[in-house]
Amino acid sequence: MIIKNYSKFVKLARNMLLHPRRYFEIVHVIQKLTNATIFQIGIIGKDLYSNMNLHEHIKKSHVQCEDQNLIFAGMPESPLLYLLVRILKPDIIVETGVASGLTSTFILQALHDNKKGRLYSIDLSKIDGVAYPKGYFLEGGETGVIPRGGESGWMIPLELRYRWTLISGRTSEKLLPLLEELEHIDIFLHDSEHSYKNMLFEYQSVLPYIRRGGGNVES
Ligand SMILES: C[S@@+](CC[C@H](N)C(=O)[O-])C[C@H]1O[C@@H](n2cnc3c(N)ncnc32)[C@H](O)[C@@H]1O
Repeated sequence: MIIKNYSKFVKLARNMLLHPRRYFEIVHVIQKLTNATIFQIGIIGKDLYSNMNLHEHIKKSHVQCEDQNLIFAGMPESPLLYLLVRILKPDIIVETGVASGLTSTFILQALHDNKKGRLYSIDLSKIDGVAYPKGYFLEGGETGVIPRGGESGWMIPLELRYRWTLISGRTSEKLLPLLEELEHIDIFLHDSEHSYKNMLFEYQSVLPYIRRGGGNVES
């Protein structure tokens, strides 16, 4: 599955977590993408909305960032990733770009609820207050600053990490060796450096490894 008009997709998904009444619009998108029935999506959506631990955890992580005057970077459509992962039931997901770990948290929650699958994430972390050499981050490094003392994925609940492998470094160095090791993947999520060069590199690297029926999601 390739999601083409992603900006429209994102608009629909935005605020989903905070405004559950938009849920019905999301259901429509998910139905189109996956052929799941309203009934199936409803049951999975309920799992997400009734997970108060997750909502509280995300709120607390927001506050922690605000306390340090940092923008809490994270894809607003993360709840939609939860629904997609629950429905598609992938074995292997690769994401690039973790920062605080909002997308990773929703993906890992879905894998936990599916009782199967593993997430591999690659991130070149940018910690608040650390002086990086000029040119160390090209594009993308400015949007995902991690609070002082934190690390990539600091907000991911400990109880969800058992299905997670974090690889620290640049995707240009780490992605191909990971793909070779995995041999095939089911879903790829790009959210690292959004330069044309890097996005092209990531997509071209990943496409031969995506299993038939698998998907590519971009930010
Ligand atoms: C937009 S943030 C990721 C946000 C995360 N996906 C979420 O929604 O919760 C982008 C992340 O990619 C990292 N990054 C930037 N350039 C990178 C590169 N070349 N390779 C790997 N990670 C990179 C940034 O430092 C940052 O941690």
